[in-house]
Amino acid sequence: MDPTYYNHTLERALNIVQANTTDMAGDVLTVPMDYYRNADLRCRERDEIMMRTPLPLVFSAQVSGPNDYVVREMFGKSVLIARGEDGVVRVFENYCRHRGASPASGCGNRRTFVCPYHSWTYGSDGQLVRIPGKSAFEGIDTAKYGLIELPSEERCGFVWAILTPNLQIDVASFLGQQIDADLTAWNYQEGVFVECREFVADVNWKAAIENFAESYHFQTVHGQSIPGQIQVPNTSTHDAFGPHHFMAFPKKTILELAETPQKNWDHSVGMTSVYWIYPGTIVVNPPGVAQYIEVLPVYDGDCDKTRIRSSFVGYDNTDDPQQLEQMSMAVDTIWEAVFDEDRPVLALIGDSVRNSTQDHVIVGRNEIGVQHMVKTIAGKLGYDLARTTN
Ligand code: FES
Ligand SMILES: [Fe+2]
Repeated sequence: MDPTYYNHTLERALNIVQANTTDMAGDVLTVPMDYYRNADLRCRERDEIMMRTPLPLVFSAQVSGPNDYVVREMFGKSVLIARGEDGVVRVFENYCRHRGASPASGCGNRRTFVCPYHSWTYGSDGQLVRIPGKSAFEGIDTAKYGLIELPSEERCGFVWAILTPNLQIDVASFLGQQIDADLTAWNYQEGVFVECREFVADVNWKAAIENFAESYHFQTVHGQSIPGQIQVPNTSTHDAFGPHHFMAFPKKTILELAETPQKNWDHSVGMTSVYWIYPGTIVVNPPGVAQYIEVLPVYDGDCDKTRIRSSFVGYDNTDDPQQLEQMSMAVDTIWEAVFDEDRPVLALIGDSVRNSTQDHVIVGRNEIGVQHMVKTIAGKLGYDLARTTN
């Protein structure tokens, strides 16, 4: 993280805690229920946003060595993320060029991927290296039948890809200078992959991701658990960086900084730093581990569902069983808050989106991060938030 920006943000966070206030939007925002339930909008989000925007698919640490690979399902498409023998990570559509079965599955370390249907074989760089009974395919140029590659880039400790072939990817300009520098400075690439966990929630993805942009719900939902115990509820800074944002959620211990010279400030004492990377990624930096959370739609017929998937890297020495145990406990604690406490609330929101006759919902001035998300996504889609009718 950029130390100047972080110290400045800590100072702001301390000021708002001492003044018992929070960064606020200029006005209350009303959001049509239609924004969450409109089926045409769902299709447009897939075609115009999800399939055309750089998305982090894994931490680099999850494919750290040559021939490491992971298969992900993204919006129904099977995607192979593989580091070649040359150390370069590439992202492919995981579909065989013969008749379309998926050559790779799961995750692990492989020099080649053998298609389970007729054993066409691909290298970890995606090239087609073997066709059994090759004489039957005389005349085809095997160099043209490698796996279809997607635009990808390794940056800031993540592997990014755009899920449509032949589009240009430029993660640095997508993130903008500040977020790019901040994420790079966190050194996720130096971390060790711990694990990932996921669940599917019966709620629209836009309603789900808003949960990660406010601490207004901390007192009610997390009051008895770690987030509620350590964080100052309903209090945050908010800085928009293009479509993305950064929010500092002050911890109760931030008040200790009032007695500490600024040059000795430790940001982890004062705040939990949370990035929203448009459209569907949250990056959180709790002590000892880093976490990124994908909050992305599952396109499953008429059902409106969201996959919430958390990946963790640890910074400590993972050869030490005690430190590994501590990292695992940190992961469990974070996961329990999201899984056990946020999940039931998200289901309630999903129910109201499907069944309520209310015309709109209201986002408070204190929910400034939520307002930024709504305005950004609506703006990208040209969706008129003023269509509220009552
Ligand atoms: S579909 Fe892959 S080898 Fe036939
Ligand atoms: Fe929560």
